[in-house]
Amino acid sequence: MPLTVRGMTIPTLEDLPPCRKVLVRIDVNSPIDPASGEILDVTRFKAHLATLRELAAQSAVVIMSHQGRPGEPDFTHLQRHAEVLSRLLGLNVEYVDDVIGPEALRRIRGLKPGRILMLDNTRIVSEDYIEAPAEVHARGIMVSRLHPLFDCYVNDAFAASHRSQASIVGFPLKLPSAAGRLMEAELRALSRVIDSPERPKVYVLGGSKLKDMLSVIENLVKTGGADWILTTGLTALLFLEAKGVDVGEAKKALVSKGGHVLLERARGLLSHTDRILVPEDFKVERRGSVEVVPATRIEGTPKDIGPETVEKYSSILSKARLVVMKGPAGVVEDPRFREGTRRLVEAALSSGAFTLFGGGHFNVIISELPAELRSRVGHISTAGGALVYMLSGRPMPGLEALAKSLLIHARHPGQGGSRGPEGGR
Ligand code: 3PG
Repeated sequence: MPLTVRGMTIPTLEDLPPCRKVLVRIDVNSPIDPASGEILDVTRFKAHLATLRELAAQSAVVIMSHQGRPGEPDFTHLQRHAEVLSRLLGLNVEYVDDVIGPEALRRIRGLKPGRILMLDNTRIVSEDYIEAPAEVHARGIMVSRLHPLFDCYVNDAFAASHRSQASIVGFPLKLPSAAGRLMEAELRALSRVIDSPERPKVYVLGGSKLKDMLSVIENLVKTGGADWILTTGLTALLFLEAKGVDVGEAKKALVSKGGHVLLERARGLLSHTDRILVPEDFKVERRGSVEVVPATRIEGTPKDIGPETVEKYSSILSKARLVVMKGPAGVVEDPRFREGTRRLVEAALSSGAFTLFGGGHFNVIISELPAELRSRVGHISTAGGALVYMLSGRPMPGLEALAKSLLIHARHPGQGGSRGPEGGR
């Protein structure tokens, strides 16, 4: 059954016609140790396993992903990614160090149902690193060379679907296409948060990505999408400074992230709503020791929210029906400053609200909680930028392309639903 998100109808795996050979775009772009090339976090790999297993049960599966950006230290080939997927899937994932050249085409042509082949980093093809409309990419070299070899295309790369790049937006215009299981889970969680009439909706927004958080808050204020916006991290310090509080040493960090322009935006938001809350106190590091200081007299470097803030925010969270937490409340890499984030996560989970978490830090914090609380997690998103785009109301070209695919490749009732080996190439 297709699902509806932000007014778009997105096909799911049930809506695909029989499919002998499928091209699946995943996003296993992960932190890499620059010295050894080792993959440091396999969370994104694990999130795609359900889709890959389901597709491999009926089809020959060809996987595409990007890793890093050209010129950056984490821009690498995907040999190790294929090895990690093989290990986690318990199935052999073959690898070819080519994307659209003769060797890739030969290996794709020869791939039998039940086999899995991973192509090299899509961004070694320059077309996959430019933003262009789906129609342009659909006529481009990557899509023109590859699409005739497949019966269908699956986009499981929610985390990259804010990009209008060839491997994301080009194929749906040429092949019957669908969202994979991870994409579906991300969209169901987000549509529950964005579209549901359940109230109160509480957003806890922290971390250090100020521009991202401001665009999310601007959208929430514009659409009335939140009952409370609880700020933490550098975002909280920006709003405190906007309220005229001297945030001391932390001002340097604000200035380095865009200072006056961001302050003006924060002031504009505060003049429109009283639903944006700031912390009462902080845990600071000062001359090597940890102290709690009031938010009106910050001395030292703020590294976590303080106990009064935890109490106040937890009380609001306890009445919530929907909670979104994006970005940590403190410097959670340091165990001395992890408590604020952990306590807010506990409060959100104990409330019985549907909870959506965004950001890798939450995986670590949630993995340390008792099983009973862990079982209450609604969804932990694998996305960074894409989640911000969704929450900010910005366009999502990857989703738009899937919705277009449904119109272009419209099927008659009864044609979808059984992806067996009888169809295709
Ligand atoms: C991400 O990690 O946010 C996605 O993989 C997208 O990567 P990009 O920002 O390099 O396009």
